[in-house]
Amino acid sequence: MRDDEADGCTVTVCRDCCCGSLSKHPAVDHDRQIERLRAALAPAHRVRTSLCLDACSQSNVLVVQPAPDARRAGARPVWFGLVLDDPVLDDIAGWVAAGGPGRAELSAVLELSRIDPP
Ligand code: FES
Repeated sequence: MRDDEADGCTVTVCRDCCCGSLSKHPAVDHDRQIERLRAALAPAHRVRTSLCLDACSQSNVLVVQPAPDARRAGARPVWFGLVLDDPVLDDIAGWVAAGGPGRAELSAVLELSRIDPP
C-alpha cells in the first residue's frame, strides 16, 4: 500500500475561486467546515483541499473518493454540491464514517445534495 493510500475514504473539499469564497458565501465559515470534517473523520479517513473542480455553480463542492478496496470492487467517487451548512456536512461525514462509496447507502436526504461530476 502506498503512503497516500490509506484504508479509508479521501474527502476532497474544493477551496478556490468560488468554493470557500467569503464574498460568494459570506455566511459560511469555510475553515470550520474543514476542521469539522477532520474532527469527525481523521485519522481513519483523509480530508484534503483542492483547487477548482470546475463545478463552481454548485459551490461549495466536495468529493468523496472510495476506500481503496471499495474502489477495486467498482465504487466510484461521489460528488456533492451546495455544501453550505452543518447538517449536510455532518450527514456526509456520517456516511463516510459508515464506509462511504460502495460500502454505505446514501440517505434520501443526502442524495439531494449529490451532483454529477463536471
Ligand atoms: S471553486 Fe470549487 S468548483 Fe470551482
